[in-house]
Amino acid sequence: MDLNLSISNISKTYNSKKVLNNCSFVFEKGNIYCIVGPNGSGKSTLLRISALLEEADDGKVAYKNGDNLLDDSTDLRRKITLVFPRGGLFNTTVFKNCAYGLNLRRKAQGYIKEKVEEALREVGLAHKMEQNALTLSSGEAQRLALARAIALEPDILFLDEPTASLDPASVIIIEKIINMLKKKRHIIIIMATHNMFQVQRLANEVIFLYNGEVVETANVKDFFENPKDERTLRFINGEMIY
Ligand SMILES: Nc1ncnc2c1ncn2[C@@H]1O[C@H](COP(=O)(O)OP(=O)(O)O)[C@@H](O)[C@H]1O
Ligand SMILES: [Mg+2]
Repeated sequence: MDLNLSISNISKTYNSKKVLNNCSFVFEKGNIYCIVGPNGSGKSTLLRISALLEEADDGKVAYKNGDNLLDDSTDLRRKITLVFPRGGLFNTTVFKNCAYGLNLRRKAQGYIKEKVEEALREVGLAHKMEQNALTLSSGEAQRLALARAIALEPDILFLDEPTASLDPASVIIIEKIINMLKKKRHIIIIMATHNMFQVQRLANEVIFLYNGEVVETANVKDFFENPKDERTLRFINGEMIY
């Protein structure tokens, strides 16, 4: 599967406030894309619309296999996973939390065991399989949320602020997992973050969203060393309040 995602001229209005205005971009396999921008600039909304969880008022979200447009089907939706910030965990074991999506898909128990154990190993939680998820530290809980997504083997993984409010050690662990996923599984990772150091550590491509508009898109080097828009420069320099 050579999946790619293009969004074109996406606009969205909530309560007569335009939160996305004419956003376009193409996401391709094997890359990590960081969507950055001040609070309220529309990052989460753009992720939800791109992940087909919400509809745009205008514009198109197109998933393609090479050049072939894919229909919006259950099959397609199963290739896409979004991890929400503080993605809700249930009052049961780490294993059962991780198996949740696979159970919904009615996979065989042997298959589920294999995928869940593999995902938990990848995030370093295999030794906590039988622990109640609600007793995990916030860093571990976020790793479990990631493992739950990994177990589904998505082709495109959306992460909304995956390290928000985590301690520095947990941030590094989560970033290692994200990098490992890119290398080992060769998927598209699209993440919203406002940690500029994280962007430098993880991103191949950066999309700067400001007031619902895509102000700048560039590879990570050009974004930081050679920004084209004056607003990007102000944002990088920390002159925007967020
Ligand atoms: N479901 C919703 N209903 C009404 N307003 C919303 C909704 N979701 C987001 N918004 C508004 O849209 C704007 C962009 O929000 P969001 O996409 O969450 O930005 P970000 O993730 O960059 O902080 C904000 O002003 C927010 O209050
Ligand atoms: Mg957000």
